[in-house]
Amino acid sequence: MKNIDSKGHVRGESIYLDDIPVQIGTLHGEIFDAPCAHGKIKNVDYSQAEQFPGVVRIITFKDIPGENQIGGIIPDEPLFAEDEVHFWGMPVALIIATSEFIARQAKKLIKIDIEELDCIVDPKEAREKGSLIFPPRTFKIGDVDSVWEACEHVFEGEADSEGQEHLYIETQGAYAFQMENGNIRIASSTQGPTAVQRTAARVLGVGMHKIEVDVTRLGGGFGGKEDQATSWAVMAALGAHLLKRPVKIVLHRMDDMCMTGKRHPYRSDFKIGLSKDFKIKAYQVTFHQNAGAAADLSPAVMERTLFHATNSYHIPNVTATAYSCKTHLPPNTAFRGFGGPQGMFVIESAIAKAAHELGIDASRIQERNLLKDGDELPYGQVMEHALARKTWATAHKKFQLEAKRTDIADFNQKNKYIKKGLAIQPVCFGISFTNTSMNNARALVHIYSDGSVGVSTGAVEMGQGVNTKMLQVAANAFSIAPEKVKLETTNTTRVANTSPSAASATADLNGKALQIACDKLLTRLKETAANMVGAEVSSIELQDEQVYCNNKPAGIKWEKLIQTAFLERVCLTENGHYATPVIHFDKTKEKGHPFAYHVYGTAILVVTVDCIRGIYTFDSVEIVHDFGKSMNETIDLGQIEGGLVQGMGWMTMEELKYNSNGKLLSNALSTYKIPDIYSVPKEIKVEALETEGHEMAIRKSKAVGEPPLMYGLGAYFAIQNAVKAFNPNYQPKYHAPFTPEKVLLGLYEKVNVSVSGI
Ligand code: MTE
Ligand code: HPA
Ligand code: MOS
Repeated sequence: MKNIDSKGHVRGESIYLDDIPVQIGTLHGEIFDAPCAHGKIKNVDYSQAEQFPGVVRIITFKDIPGENQIGGIIPDEPLFAEDEVHFWGMPVALIIATSEFIARQAKKLIKIDIEELDCIVDPKEAREKGSLIFPPRTFKIGDVDSVWEACEHVFEGEADSEGQEHLYIETQGAYAFQMENGNIRIASSTQGPTAVQRTAARVLGVGMHKIEVDVTRLGGGFGGKEDQATSWAVMAALGAHLLKRPVKIVLHRMDDMCMTGKRHPYRSDFKIGLSKDFKIKAYQVTFHQNAGAAADLSPAVMERTLFHATNSYHIPNVTATAYSCKTHLPPNTAFRGFGGPQGMFVIESAIAKAAHELGIDASRIQERNLLKDGDELPYGQVMEHALARKTWATAHKKFQLEAKRTDIADFNQKNKYIKKGLAIQPVCFGISFTNTSMNNARALVHIYSDGSVGVSTGAVEMGQGVNTKMLQVAANAFSIAPEKVKLETTNTTRVANTSPSAASATADLNGKALQIACDKLLTRLKETAANMVGAEVSSIELQDEQVYCNNKPAGIKWEKLIQTAFLERVCLTENGHYATPVIHFDKTKEKGHPFAYHVYGTAILVVTVDCIRGIYTFDSVEIVHDFGKSMNETIDLGQIEGGLVQGMGWMTMEELKYNSNGKLLSNALSTYKIPDIYSVPKEIKVEALETEGHEMAIRKSKAVGEPPLMYGLGAYFAIQNAVKAFNPNYQPKYHAPFTPEKVLLGLYEKVNVSVSGI
């Protein structure tokens, strides 16, 4: 089945936040933000801006009727700065005017007097100064200290990865208006409608029942709207509440890039110990997460870094410690992979370093240590249905790895100034919110009296195709045509207390809830049908929009059945609630079984480096991926391709530059480069692993949103291998992204060769 949104998208008919028709009298909000990363506000003079024609009001923290607090996990983040600012771009006030243009003009008239204070941008420096968001955590298995001596080889090093801008095509925005009795309705481009509702209620000082949040779809979220869509929605609601007029806020791209948090940069130290035959005996790692100026989702992101610290490998002795370091960057947040990629980059760097020192290919270490059933991970979960080895072996065979290696060696032999490099990237990613209590969802199903069906769930469509998958679940459950089913907007009044659409678990959680609701309705409909034909309920099935009795058509169409049930006063509405079974985690011991299941895969990446210019192109990325039994192959393939390229962008070209005062310099598409059609791999092949799928995945179709991003890690190591092929003196560094600038430095590091012929 095709994505139900594809036609609307290509015709430009799909409705995003900025397409919602606004009411007459709608006002526009513009954020006045901090012009330095850390400082004491001495005075703000709004007088000129307030007098600017068309400005209706300027709202500050003083106008907040409830709490000036938006922190979801830790209450450490004011909506508007009070007497201090903590990051460049921190909201100080909201200018509300009759047009966006006027609000922007007025912004220039605000005068702020700030005493600048010391600014920290480096997480290690923050840790040294005791600037932490919360105490460190350690995941531990075995005892590393007792095995270093017995290891044949021990290597130590550093691995750093930088942040990443989400660059959703639709920037942050919200539209809020008052209903009767002071109730507020907010249209928001958010992955977390309930988070918006809860925070708006807190800031406005009202009950959550007074706030309704509605989401049609997002023009991309990628984690950037899991928590950080909230501020703008709450500001719009605050404006609507205070002025009793509709308020719309849509961030300009440069404001969005400057004001919002990104993927967390990490700086890490590792130590790895191997036996003679390359078994990894011990691994010790210390992560320094650059959380930015407030907690946001950092505690949860840091937790996932620890969960994925050993990626697809079984290591019997591990100590992984993580510090969440408070700096003066915008609060960093969820980004596809949610800390997992940062953790995996370090173990892959440790393996690459060991391989380099030993003069072998990293794949020899990788392959030797892949997870298998019965292996215990550092957090206590014992592997079942482990497919790490199977995806590896399948990729090896299917994509003729040996031949590829020979070809590359041959090519490198023949070419002096062009070198190829290959890397293999296995991935093992846990599916479930790491916070067990968040793993639940609800769905509301109405069968209308004409037999058409309306479905509401807590799932937010952000391009990942979840609405299509929900539609498939409902149509399949009732065995009716997809055209009979409508996916409603995501709305807190219809489906309440939702977890955000995140953790790749949206289709599983909401799909299972929907399946439960549909099954309940189906049970009732079968009873009606049994009465109609005078047979046992157990002999009734619904198939192809008909009633079957003992496997034979009973001459009753779906519409007839529904009409009869309606006239007999059978309830045609149901609610389904799903809470993932089995999972648990004890934070006091840092042990448990946090994930419903794991998703596996192996990618083979080949790059060609131009050793005169330092630029590179990816020849191919070939992947064997564990989809389980995919319920929608087209959508899932799109997720693999998009995730892969997003991961490669993070590893190779996306470079966030701040000056030493914490100002973002790469604040536009002209200075922040993301992959485009010219920089994606020339060829991407995706092979589905043959497997049975997993019972805890919706219709055995495994979660696919985030895992492919981590195939992109291999891009770093493929480039590194090509650089090594050119320059034997190159000392590998592990500091992503591997930009052409760094490639060039690596190619000519400690080299005395003269490049002849140019
Ligand atoms: N795909 C598109 N097109 N747009 C997005 O914003 N977000 C990613 C991934 N794929 C995203 C996407 C992230 S961060 C997550 S967690 C999952 O989709 C969320 O959706 P799912 O749970 O339905 O996989
Ligand atoms: N993944 C993504 N988002 C989250 C998680 C998680 O594990 N926990 C809380 N928000
Ligand atoms: Mo995705 S980072 O869990 O929104």
